[in-house]
Amino acid sequence: MTISRTSGGAPVESDAHSLSIGSNGPLLLHDVHLVETLAHFNRENVVERRPHAKGAGAFGTFTVTQDVSKWTKAAVFQPGTTTKTLLRFSTVAGELGSPDTWRDVRGFSLRHYTTEGNLDIVGNNTPIFFLRDPMKFPHFIRSQKRLASNGLRDADMQWDFWTLSPESAHQVTYLMGDRGLPKTWRNMNGYGSHTYQWVNETGERFWVKFHYHTQQGMEFLSNEEATKLAGEDAEFHRRDLWEAIERGDFPKWTLSVQVMPYEEAKTYRFNPFDLTKVWPHGDYPLHEVGVLELNKNPDNFFAQIEQAAFAPSNMVPGMGVSPDKMLLGRVFGYADAQRYRIGPNFHQLPVNQPQGVEGGFEAVNQWMFDGNQAYHHSGTAPVYAPNSLGRESAQEFQGTVPEGWEADGEMVRQAYALHAEDDDFGQAGTLVREVFDDAQRDRLVETLTGALGGIKRAEVYERAIWYWKSVDETIGTRVDEAVKAGRDEETVPGMGVEREA
Ligand code: HEM
Repeated sequence: MTISRTSGGAPVESDAHSLSIGSNGPLLLHDVHLVETLAHFNRENVVERRPHAKGAGAFGTFTVTQDVSKWTKAAVFQPGTTTKTLLRFSTVAGELGSPDTWRDVRGFSLRHYTTEGNLDIVGNNTPIFFLRDPMKFPHFIRSQKRLASNGLRDADMQWDFWTLSPESAHQVTYLMGDRGLPKTWRNMNGYGSHTYQWVNETGERFWVKFHYHTQQGMEFLSNEEATKLAGEDAEFHRRDLWEAIERGDFPKWTLSVQVMPYEEAKTYRFNPFDLTKVWPHGDYPLHEVGVLELNKNPDNFFAQIEQAAFAPSNMVPGMGVSPDKMLLGRVFGYADAQRYRIGPNFHQLPVNQPQGVEGGFEAVNQWMFDGNQAYHHSGTAPVYAPNSLGRESAQEFQGTVPEGWEADGEMVRQAYALHAEDDDFGQAGTLVREVFDDAQRDRLVETLTGALGGIKRAEVYERAIWYWKSVDETIGTRVDEAVKAGRDEETVPGMGVEREA
């Protein structure tokens, strides 16, 4: 680079001294360089993501090591294929500067730059979620963030929402267990979480769930370690990932899928589209697909991570969404957020372009024109379809779409129809009793004792104890006893609310 210039390209006289009348004198409005410097500074941030604001990520590859072509025709999953990939990790509730080690679910956002367009699988480090209807999502996120009055995070608000939404029990059990405090991003699994659809060359359809198992081994922080790190190094996870990649220690994950034949969804013992449920591996085993490796740090955090626009609506042929209502809500939510957060032409930014398609962005014939910050233009080509001037449009397919499913019935507002073993607490109880060991159960009780100890309203506390007894009677009783043993006041200061003994 050469000397500084204004945005108009003229050389500037100084980056250190404003134009003034005499060395102590007033400043002059026609100091274009000062005005431009201050004005652009005021505009150099974009809105932070509403959830998942704090995060970081890196580039790498996804390589298919097994043959899953009998289930999907998607080019990215064909044997031997290697695809450039971006992965961003995040916390959910915290803001841009919040500590990486606060207890939270972690985001695991993947973008594959495939030859058929971008495929984004925007998941978490847990195989399930708090909710099963997108209508509740904004309420959920607000309950985990800050009180309207004082801007503080608030245990009552969190537990009030969770306990009035008992479908959250399974995910809250994960969150309050070891997975709520991963040691590093490299030491945690990722999940697509939702049920997606795969379609093979002959048009046969399957339901699939994605599991990315860390090859570094799962490791966790204790409550004490996490609290200490939150004070000492708020960027602990971001730093760890960056430094590992810089020293050539490239983290890897193995992708495996669970595959359910299309027809079995109707009669499976759990509703397979309910995002609060797993499919037990005994019913649907894991099939290995390939390996994800992160091996390149971003060149520029803002351009490649902050402006990255992951969206569950980025799909490719051979892969589709499912009747999971949460996934269907997300298909709208993300690109809309990004039109606001980054701007209506966010798709023109290099990190968001379909880089894997032959010829790159310039070769993609899409019908979105002009608007704020438009950089790529149509030139003299027609901007309407159909046209007789040679610009091709879609092939005007009509008929049954390959990645679809049958739906019929009246329009309703209604919960999912229950399958044989569907309820809110069953799988959470199984997790506590059959997956956790004694030490994990002890840590769960310790964490819940701290978390429920922060509740001020008696009504919310009693509901929280009911919630945990519904997950597991023993855990609920132990937590209740521990909270009561640790309480030395009848009235909890803060909100002046009497709490029952
Ligand atoms: C209806 C439910 C949901 C809605 C409306 C929703 C909405 C959003 C929005 C608006 C963003 C910010 C996007 C941006 O500004 O770029 C976001 C980020 C994110 N969400 Fe969701 N979300 C939902 C459910 C979920 C679920 C179920 C998961 C995981 C299984 C999830 C994982 C993520 C992740 C990982 C990010 C961060 C993306 C990134 O790294 O940039 N969300 N969500």
